[in-house]
Amino acid sequence: MIKSNYFKIIFVSVIFPVIFIAAASVQPVNRSDEHKARAQEAAQSFMGELQGILLNELREGGPVQALSVCADTAQLLTQAAAGELGVSLKRVSGRIRNPENAPDEYERKILEKFSKMHNEGKEPPFIHTEERTFNGEKEFWYIQSIHLQAQCVGCHGSEDQIAGNVRKLLRDHYPGDEATGYKPGDFRGALRVSFSITNNCFLINE
Ligand code: HEC
Repeated sequence: MIKSNYFKIIFVSVIFPVIFIAAASVQPVNRSDEHKARAQEAAQSFMGELQGILLNELREGGPVQALSVCADTAQLLTQAAAGELGVSLKRVSGRIRNPENAPDEYERKILEKFSKMHNEGKEPPFIHTEERTFNGEKEFWYIQSIHLQAQCVGCHGSEDQIAGNVRKLLRDHYPGDEATGYKPGDFRGALRVSFSITNNCFLINE
């Protein structure tokens, strides 16, 4: 009897902690790699879908048709893709077309960091990841830079690259439009993907 109690004490005070610590330490050392992969998959899927629609409309009906579709679709598609992928999605820029895409203070800081990297000639895309806590809830934030491509100038380029009827549509839809005057390769903005990671934290090393 005494012996068995003795064993229990040893088990609880020595063996159990050793097993527990060992179990905790074999957890993947870097859970954030998994989060990053999930975010990157969501980013690729969303950007692919958005560009697919845009290019298709551009090919079929030119910028005016693409614009009439994209003006309403971009926000809806962002919400739909976010729901489907189980993440929160937002496109942001320092020079916005749609005020819905205005960055918050945190996003603005990351945009500034990316802009600096662009000016220093760093190789894009630029990526920022961070775990952030809101009201005790942990979120993984992934932000990836967006750069202008040749097919974007019909709606984001210089005045002479944007057709008159497109300029008119843009003026009507987005009276405060700041998102013109870009050249291919320019740093245009970023896509933010974020999701809760609180539910995944079940071991002591989180
Ligand atoms: C047919 C016109 C058109 C083309 C081509 C186009 N865009 Fe846009 N872009 C828009 C419109 C309209 C919006 C505002 C949509 C919204 O509500 O998010 C927008 C918004 C954006 C935003 C979000 C920030 C903001 O200013 O509101 C980014 C980033 C962006 N475009 C990047 C690109 C890139 C990169 C390309 C080329 C791959 C591209 N766009 C091609 C029309 C276009």
